[in-house]
Amino acid sequence: MPGLPAEDSMIELAPSILSADFARLGAEAQAAVEGGATVLHVDVMDGHFVPNITIGPPVVTSLRKVTKVPLDCHLMIERPDDFIPAFAEAGADWISVHQEACVHLDRTLHLIAAHGCKPGVVINPATPVHALDEVLPLVHHVLVMSVNPGFGGQTFIYSSLKKIELLSKIRESRRLSFRIEVDGGIHHETVAQVVRAGAEILVAGSAIFEQGNSSENARHLLKSALDAAATVQDFPSVVGGGAAAGGANSLSLP
Ligand code: DX5
Ligand code: ZN
Repeated sequence: MPGLPAEDSMIELAPSILSADFARLGAEAQAAVEGGATVLHVDVMDGHFVPNITIGPPVVTSLRKVTKVPLDCHLMIERPDDFIPAFAEAGADWISVHQEACVHLDRTLHLIAAHGCKPGVVINPATPVHALDEVLPLVHHVLVMSVNPGFGGQTFIYSSLKKIELLSKIRESRRLSFRIEVDGGIHHETVAQVVRAGAEILVAGSAIFEQGNSSENARHLLKSALDAAATVQDFPSVVGGGAAAGGANSLSLP
C-alpha cells in the first residue's frame, strides 16, 4: 500500500459534485481528477426521499463528455426504477439505490445491472447492515451513509464506523467481493478512521470543493487515506467485483 498510486490501490476518492460550483462543473470535476480522484460521485435528490432537490440525467450527460472516470450516481429518490434507464443512457457507470426507498430491492438491483451499470445499495444511518443480507451477493458496492442524506457539509455520524467494520467482516466470511463506500462528513479528521474500519471508496464533497484548490484538496485527502490504509496490517485486497464480477453467492453469516 505505501507509495502506490491511487489507481493501483483499492482506496479510491470519489468527490461529490454536490459541493462544486455548478457554473464551472466541468472544470471542477477535472480538477478533482487531477488531484487523484478516480470516481466522481453524483448526488441525485428528488425532494421526496430527501428534503432537497439536485440534479438529473442531463447533468450526467454533460459530465460524461468531460471525464472518463466512472460516474457514481447515488439516487436519493423514490421510485428509482422509473429513472434508472435515463441515468444509464446518460452515461452513469455505477448506480446506487437506497434500501429504504426500494420495496423490491432485488428487482431494482437487477434492473441496474440489466442496463449495463454496476449496482450499489445504500443504507441510512438508522438502517442496520443486516437489512442487506439477501442482496450482498448482487451488488458491486455498498454505500454506508455517515450522515442523514440530503445535504453536504454535515457532521460525521460515528456509529457508521461499526457498520463499515461489520460489512468488511461479512464480506470476508461469506467470501463476497462488493466494495465498501462511505459518504458524508469525510474530511481530514475522519478519513483515517473510515479507512481503518474498512471503507475503500471515499465520498467527499465539502472537503474537496468548498474552499481552496479542489485539486490540492483531493490530493491531500487521498494522501491521508492512503497513509491510514498503510497502517492497517491486513487491508482487504478486494478490487471491483460484486455478483457481476463473479462474487460468491453464499448466504451464511458470521
Ligand atoms: C449527502 C450526499 C453526500 C454529500 C457529501 O446526502 O449523499 O454525497 O454531498 O458531502 P460532505 O462530504 O460535505 O459531507
Ligand atoms: Zn452521496
